[in-house]
Amino acid sequence: MYNIALIPGDGIGPEVIREGKRIIDFASELNNVQINWVEFPFGAEHYLKKGELLPDSVLEEIKGMDAIYLGAVGDPQVKPGILEKEILLKIRFSLDQYINLRPIRLLQGIESPLRNKTFKNINFYVVRENTEDFYIGTGSSFKGKEYHSDHVIKRNLFQSNIQIDFQLDGEEEIGYQLGLLTRKGSDRIIRYAFELAEKKGLSKVSTVDKANVLSDMYGLWRRVFKDVSRDFPDISTDYYYVDAMTMLMVTNPERFQIVVTPNMFGDIITDLGAAIQGGIGIAASANINPEGISMFEPIHGSAPDIKNQGKANPIAAILAGAMMLDSLGETKIASTIENVTQEVLKEGKIKPIEFGGKASTSEIGDGIIKKLKKLLN
Ligand code: IPM
Ligand code: MG
Repeated sequence: MYNIALIPGDGIGPEVIREGKRIIDFASELNNVQINWVEFPFGAEHYLKKGELLPDSVLEEIKGMDAIYLGAVGDPQVKPGILEKEILLKIRFSLDQYINLRPIRLLQGIESPLRNKTFKNINFYVVRENTEDFYIGTGSSFKGKEYHSDHVIKRNLFQSNIQIDFQLDGEEEIGYQLGLLTRKGSDRIIRYAFELAEKKGLSKVSTVDKANVLSDMYGLWRRVFKDVSRDFPDISTDYYYVDAMTMLMVTNPERFQIVVTPNMFGDIITDLGAAIQGGIGIAASANINPEGISMFEPIHGSAPDIKNQGKANPIAAILAGAMMLDSLGETKIASTIENVTQEVLKEGKIKPIEFGGKASTSEIGDGIIKKLKKLLN
């Protein structure tokens, strides 16, 4: 039995999570595995009603569970950044989920917007660093003398403690945001990428940075990548600047097997990845702490414009659920869900509205359950 923290969140979060949960429950029961869901109300509505985002006491409680299954957070009624930072990023950081694993795989039965590309051409993993870079939450914006002491690194990243000082004249106005990488933080994610290559029987790890311009921070990243790669002599490597990377993901996606990237570039290229694999509605992701508790979520956001219309594609949430089961060691249940989802899409009778079809959110879930039932007979 597993205890899973369930955070459906905002917008289409609850509707896609409902399908994911239903399928996880059904497939688990087939294999005599029981899931105990512990649901939490965090998100816009709860915040607007109660003024509460994600209390530390709940984080502590979640630390005793087996995983987190999350829908999406973000709502136009709340200023951008509040829910994202105080719920989603707070979980990633506080639980030190330093790996953001995002498979970019074009499933059969889904058309890529890239001409002539099939499932044979688009199949790689993005391993995104998930705790550092421009995401450390340190920055400020102010005008002349308004300046006050909001400029010390707020997160005690590997004990670094840095102070910055600005002296502005008169009415000058500035905004700044700090990016920071540590050797330790880079080493552990890059090592994970190489180990993943070994585990999956892959032969190459590619790295993404912008070491030609942001050379202090990404120069460190590159040095660490080189150092770590020496421990994996059988795995080949290549290096890309992020601008070239976006081009090659469109023109030559078959070039990539494992792509390891700092946080912000990882954010950007995984939306591009989601697009080339057919659409944001099928892209799943895992926020992993190999020694702690991990969180599984679709890459897509809360899409408030299509909330409660049955238009949302639950496949990303369903596949995130499969990643969760896989990480819990339930590899058989995970692959059953993946295979059945693939079968349903390949068959093509159930086509998500996202891809010009007619199948509603729950009809897609129904179709997958129906196929799972067939496995029983
Ligand atoms: C993602 C999202 C988040 C991120 C946002 C919602 C904070 O875009 O998971 O990719 O930037 O990491
Ligand atoms: Mg993103």
